[in-house]
Amino acid sequence: MNLEYLKLFDLNTAQIESMPLTERRLSQLSGCFADARAYQAALEQSDPVIYSVSSYEPAHSDGDLHIGLGRIMPGKVGDEFYLTRGHLHTWREAAEIYIGLSGQGQMLLEVEGGAVSSLSLSPQSIVYVPGHTAHRTVNTGFSPLLYLGIYPAKAGHDYASLTEHNFRQMVLDVQGSVQTILRSTWLESRGGSS
Ligand code: NI
Repeated sequence: MNLEYLKLFDLNTAQIESMPLTERRLSQLSGCFADARAYQAALEQSDPVIYSVSSYEPAHSDGDLHIGLGRIMPGKVGDEFYLTRGHLHTWREAAEIYIGLSGQGQMLLEVEGGAVSSLSLSPQSIVYVPGHTAHRTVNTGFSPLLYLGIYPAKAGHDYASLTEHNFRQMVLDVQGSVQTILRSTWLESRGGSS
């Protein structure tokens, strides 16, 4: 059995050596940001890369692990910080571990039909994402947010289940302070329209 599994990763390019890099642009995040008007206005200006993931998937069987190196750029749509689309795992039981590498961020965790929480993701922090829990990562700082995600090879990504309802929480810049609020609260403050 070949055991040559050492990989180097580059914090400047956010790439794991010789591994594929998937980029997500603003235009691919339709429906993720609460302020639809601000989203349209931003898109009319430009369509920047919001985040990327470089994936190392050496697995041969269900017991193996996959690793993703994520980078979210700094920025906002309206008052809402740049974010990942977020997902549940197709195999719902699959947990995941996030390890912050650089920058400042927040992870939104939402159990399907259950509790929600918002946890800091920064260097020297580890966030455990249990099974059955949707997870989205948000860059709340002024520099790129980099992190590793480690998950079972057979976890799979289910984006569709969240497309309709989006996350229940959102992370906002409120006059210079980072605040996580419920989307329903934000909608009410806007008179019920987005
Ligand atoms: Ni995941």
